[in-house]
Amino acid sequence: MIRSVVEGCGAYLPERVVTNEELARKVDTSDEWIVQRTGIRTRHIAAEGEFTSHLATRAASRALERAGMAASAIDMIVLATSTPDQTFPATATAVQANLGLTRGAAFDVQAVCSGFVYGLAVADSMIRNGMAGTALVIGAETFSRILDWNDRSTCVLFGDGAGAVVLRAGHGQGTPDDRGILASTLHSDGRQHDLLYVDGGPSTTRTAGYLRMQGREVFKHAVTNLAAVVGETLNKAGLKPEAIDWLVPHQANKRIIDGTGRKLGLSSDKVVLTVDRHANTSAASIPLALDAAVADGRIRRGHVVLLEAMGGGLTWGANLIRW
Ligand code: UT7
Repeated sequence: MIRSVVEGCGAYLPERVVTNEELARKVDTSDEWIVQRTGIRTRHIAAEGEFTSHLATRAASRALERAGMAASAIDMIVLATSTPDQTFPATATAVQANLGLTRGAAFDVQAVCSGFVYGLAVADSMIRNGMAGTALVIGAETFSRILDWNDRSTCVLFGDGAGAVVLRAGHGQGTPDDRGILASTLHSDGRQHDLLYVDGGPSTTRTAGYLRMQGREVFKHAVTNLAAVVGETLNKAGLKPEAIDWLVPHQANKRIIDGTGRKLGLSSDKVVLTVDRHANTSAASIPLALDAAVADGRIRRGHVVLLEAMGGGLTWGANLIRW
């Protein structure tokens, strides 16, 4: 049985760090409100002229380095983003060119904050059916470009960044002991489309628009949907929550993350948390958190790692991986 094994991961954060205090000088907010309601303390913001493709290329290069693989060994680039460099072509093709790749396929996946979970599921399916032997799956965002910096209810929540993993086809026995992606689940409910969206786009206003969110409503859906999708994914792999070594959730809000961890009966030291330093980087948040926990030695070969996310659409999903 073919399994998509994670060979390495990498991440990149723009240099500039913006604190809550700095934001409190621009909009009517406070460090206290932001920390209490979200757990966020700082976020990274891309420099002028620094695009999603640049962040993605740096993260991808680091992932390739850690995997000990040359870019030329990659069959497919799947880039999850909602902040592409341009409406088209896919930002993945810019990354392909930056990496000096002239073969294979490169395309974007758009599922907002669930983008990385969707991208991994897509790449895993293609690897398992033989369409690719290797893949780079990247989550990269410059949400700072679609924020209304006068709207305190959204501008304090997001940051920029990128993370990537390299997948390679390996062989398993079809048991939970196999290394690789053990199961994935994807969902969406378009009826909730207006809870989190960007108020513009090429087909409607021609301009990119700004992010709009009914935060409290999204929050309510997050807790219920994430608990359900995690259960569904564990069931597919025949594992119980006790088997999870690390929960690597989408980093939107510490309260949502704590709630999901509690529902799974996981102690907080099994949950990877980066929202305090990175804020919500949408599709980049999971690979950024993965990279942090791999780099400091928490996630090690053989560990069971559960990824979960929910975002605009609404979309939500989970991947279960034996590292
Ligand atoms: O990543 C994709 C998925 N997104 C999410 O998962 C986000 C989910 N939602 C959330 O994380 C939370 O709903 C927020 C962090 C966005 C908001 O927290 P909340 O506890 O739901 O606050 P709220 O929206 O109910 O607002 C409470 C109060 C309001 O004032 P009133 O009406 O009670 O007087 C807001 O106007 O807080 C006010 N408020 C602020 N105050 C200071 C909203 N934003 C701010 C702010 N600073 N930045």
